[in-house]
Amino acid sequence: MGEGISDYTRFVVDLRRHMWMAGVEMELRRLIWQIAVTGKYISAKIHESNRKLAGYKNLYGEEQLSLDRSADEILKNQLQYSGFVREYASEERDAVIQIGKGEEKYFVTADPLDGSSLVDTNLSIGTIIGIHKESVFTRGRDSMVAALYITYGPLITMVYSAGKGTHEFVLNREGEYVLSQEHIMLEERGSIYSPGGLRKDYTKKHLKYLEYLEAAGYKLRYSGGFVPDINQVLIKRGGVFTYPALMKSPRGKLRLLFELQPMAFIIEEAGGIATDGEDEILSLRVQDLEQRCPIYIGSRFEVEKAMEFLAAN
Ligand code: AHG
Ligand code: MN
Ligand code: MN
Repeated sequence: MGEGISDYTRFVVDLRRHMWMAGVEMELRRLIWQIAVTGKYISAKIHESNRKLAGYKNLYGEEQLSLDRSADEILKNQLQYSGFVREYASEERDAVIQIGKGEEKYFVTADPLDGSSLVDTNLSIGTIIGIHKESVFTRGRDSMVAALYITYGPLITMVYSAGKGTHEFVLNREGEYVLSQEHIMLEERGSIYSPGGLRKDYTKKHLKYLEYLEAAGYKLRYSGGFVPDINQVLIKRGGVFTYPALMKSPRGKLRLLFELQPMAFIIEEAGGIATDGEDEILSLRVQDLEQRCPIYIGSRFEVEKAMEFLAAN
């Protein structure tokens, strides 16, 4: 390449080209692309909402939907009649809805806006998407074909996997998703941990595990936003995120279908593992939309160490 040629004239790999080069099936490429584009509209809504959370009247005096519900509406409207999506399940809705004619290929799950309670602090928040080839009421291992998340932070980034590795894109000033990190692979172990929940509510075994990590010098990194907290483990190539079973809530807090399955799919494609402390997240059968479960997710060493502590008598 000649001297002084700007980055923008190098071989810029955008999302659509990447998925085509990776051999992702055409309809799935178009669906992932459409969801990634929707992230721009959700980001615009976050800006427009002036960081109000809910019960906010817009200048016409209309009741402004909370950001969670606005993001959900935007996603549903984008996916409805897209020709690719038969059913849509969302953290903001209490039932799966059919949004296609009934023969479309894919079933989409969404946490439209994760961490929305942080929006007033200007900390990063995100959107989490799972893409299934059959009804979601089964094991993720059998139904999932892709997963993605979008982070709304200093940059807007999108991380996806369609079963051929985990890759990160950055939304550039021209509004294109440009490849920034390809085939992200976690190391065997990392140096950060994200301990969800409250120490006073931890079980003895979980507490012992955290004390082990702290004694081994792991750095605590926790924003309270699942998407940036997981993203940090991925981009730093290791470490562990946990939101454990708590004394008062043995199933923990995070939702299997909307939050844990997509992140487990992405982290496994990056060489990591995701369990509820005993079983792999993707081997758990989804019984209902509200199903929550404890999570230990990240690089192999830390997650297997957690399972050891939890199995000890
Ligand atoms: P959501 O905003 O979709 O309800 O998710 C919030 C979740 C998740 O982002 C995060 O990991 C967890 O809440 C934090 O819980 P605590 O405030 O109990 O730490
Ligand atoms: Mn969430
Ligand atoms: Mn949410």
